[in-house]
Parts: sequence; structure tokens; C-alpha cells
Amino acid sequence: MPWVVRDVVHDLNKSVGRRWQGLDRLLPGRADLPEGCAAPLVAAGANGRPAGLGVCRHQFVPAGTLNQTWGSASQFSLILRLREPDTSAALDDLLGQWRDHLAGLPEAGPVDTAAMVTWPARDVSGVNALLRRGMQAMTVIAVRPAEHAAAAGPARPGEPASAQVVAESSAGLVIREAGLGDLDVVTEFEMGVIRYDAQFGAAIIRPATEALVRAETQAALATRPAWAWLAERDGRPVGLVHVQPPERSGWIASMTRPGVTVYLQTMFVRPGERGSGVGAALVRHVHGVLDARGVQTTLLHYALMNPLSAPFWNRMGYRPLWTGWEVRPAASLR
Ligand SMILES: CC(C)(COP(=O)(O)OP(=O)(O)OC[C@H]1O[C@@H](n2cnc3c(N)ncnc32)[C@H](O)[C@@H]1OP(=O)(O)O)[C@@H](O)C(=O)NCCC(=O)NCCS
Repeated sequence: MPWVVRDVVHDLNKSVGRRWQGLDRLLPGRADLPEGCAAPLVAAGANGRPAGLGVCRHQFVPAGTLNQTWGSASQFSLILRLREPDTSAALDDLLGQWRDHLAGLPEAGPVDTAAMVTWPARDVSGVNALLRRGMQAMTVIAVRPAEHAAAAGPARPGEPASAQVVAESSAGLVIREAGLGDLDVVTEFEMGVIRYDAQFGAAIIRPATEALVRAETQAALATRPAWAWLAERDGRPVGLVHVQPPERSGWIASMTRPGVTVYLQTMFVRPGERGSGVGAALVRHVHGVLDARGVQTTLLHYALMNPLSAPFWNRMGYRPLWTGWEVRPAASLR
């Protein structure tokens, strides 16, 4: 990029970072603008200063990866940086330019493609522009800050093993860390969430999904600590929480403030056991462990149309941070 453009981008990123902080202090304090498939799309603003920039990124997700279970095979994402508090006009302008770009791409036409925008949940000024262009809000990235954990300082590597192993909850459950011997049931519960979320388009079951989930679960359970916990009633597993440790959560950590961040990848309670406190007992136990390990921020995804997850996560101290908007196929953006 020529230096003049770099200067504009730098200035815009700074304004956007400040604006995000005004909207929600758990958004990142600094924005950046990644490289896109071409030069950024520009929304004209006053005094020759752009009101915003948009960068289009193309991602072709390989068939043999779990990422294809969590989204379309070809993903076209627009990364937006908008300066003004009222984003509607600049956003509409950039979405219109992006539609024209996607309409010229034969690879954006097939069914298994999506045009995607990840938008700050509290930036409500953009919602109508996204809807007018035919986009649908599909997923939420929710956040739980652990202020007391931040004050407690860094993780304790010497945490005694006994503190991680077994807890009795008031709901008559035993909660314990999962290990390799639990591979079958953890895989079953991981697939349970995927099957449930597939009903809302948030997951797409592929021929390789189950084998990939099993392989990933095996690798996760083989490490110590495993960061996965089971709730058992009368010796029978009834629920699972699985967290990606900080070193495996880097792919999403930049979506929030700096600090020790983990991603809660799975929460599942057997259908017949739901609504009786299993999920809450598991999550409370896991929060205690995360806080003791110095985790400052926990992120997770839920499908907006999942009728069980939003109220549950809200009760557990989570709230929306980003909203994932999509239109499928990508070229159907209006
Ligand atoms: C979401 C899920 C894990 C919740 O587990 P659960 O054991 O049913 O939840 P609990 O009984 O412990 O409920 C905990 C609290 O959330 C509330 N809650 C749970 N589900 C709720 C719902 N659908 N509507 C309103 N409140 C709900 C409970 O009332 C309870 O609140 P309380 O503490 O004031 O009594 C479970 O429904 C599930 O496995 N769903 C399918 C998979 C899924 O959606 N996973 C999450 C994907 S992000």
C-alpha cells in the first residue's frame, strides 16, 4: 500500500478502536485492517476522508477439516472499519460495492458458499443496512469477563491435581475431568451439539464430521490437564463442558480485550436431563477452575436461533459481543 493509503488506514483504525471502546469495553481496543483479495473498498466521507473501508477475504475451507462443519466450504468475509457513530450510510455503500464484487466471482455462486460479516453486537446502527442486503444474523460470540480472576494474577502452574478432579454439586452430580477413557461419550456429546446446532444452520454435518470430531477429541483428552469436564449422575455421564486452553484459543482471542482468553467450544446436557441444573452445576465448576487458572476472558459461540443457548448463557454470566451475519450462497447478497 502506498504510504498515503497506509496513513489513512492507520487513522481509521485508531478511530474505530476508540469507537468500539465507547460501545463496549470488551471489544478490542485496537482495530487493524488485514490484507484482502484486492484493494480495500472505500466509502466516501466528508472532506475527502473515507467514512469507512471494507476488505474482502476469500477462504476455501478444505473438506478434511472440522472448520467445514462450522461453516460453508467457501467463505467470503467483509472486514469493515467505519469511522462515524451512525454507520448506516457507509455500511450500505460498502455492502453494495461488495455485492457487485461477489456477483463477478463464479466461485461465490454455488450453494455451499457464504458471504459473512462479523459485526459488534452493540453497534445497532448497522443492523438495518445488513438486513436490507439480505443478510441474516446467525451466530453470536458471547463473552464472560472474570474481573476477579484478572486481579488474582497469572495462572498457577502448580495447581494441585486434586483441585481439578472431582466435585459434588448440590444437584447430586459428580463433576470430574474427562480423560482418554471417556473418548466414546465425549465424542457422542460433541456430536450431540453439532447435530443440535445443524438445525439452525450454525453447523453443517459433513461425511467426515464424526471421524474428525473423534480424532480431535482424542488429541484433546490425551493432554493433561484436558480442559474437558463431565457431569455424572449415578456413574452415568450426563453433561460435558469442553474448553480450548489459552494456547489453543489464539484464533479467536483478538476478538476481545488483551489478556488470558479461552474459548468454550462445547456445552451439552443429555436431552432427558435438561432443565434440572446439570448445565449450571458444570459451568459453575468450570468457571471456578478457569478463574483459578488465571483466565480473564471466556468466549463462546451460540446459534442465535438455538432456543436453549441464549437464555442459558445469559444466566451463566455471558452476553453478546459480536454477531455473525451471513447470506448463503455468497452471490445472493442484494
Ligand atoms: C443449553 C444446555 C446445556 C443447558 O443445560 P441445562 O442442564 O438444561 O441447564 P440448567 O437446567 O442447568 O439451567 C441453568 C439455568 O439456565 C436456565 N435455562 C436453561 N435453559 C433455559 C431455557 N431454554 N430458557 C430459559 N432459561 C433456561 C435455567 O432456568 C436455569 O436458571 P436458574 O439458575 O435461574 O434456575 C442444554 O439445554 C443443552 O444441552 N442444549 C442442547 C445443546 C446446546 O444448545 N448447547 C449449547 C450450545 S452453545
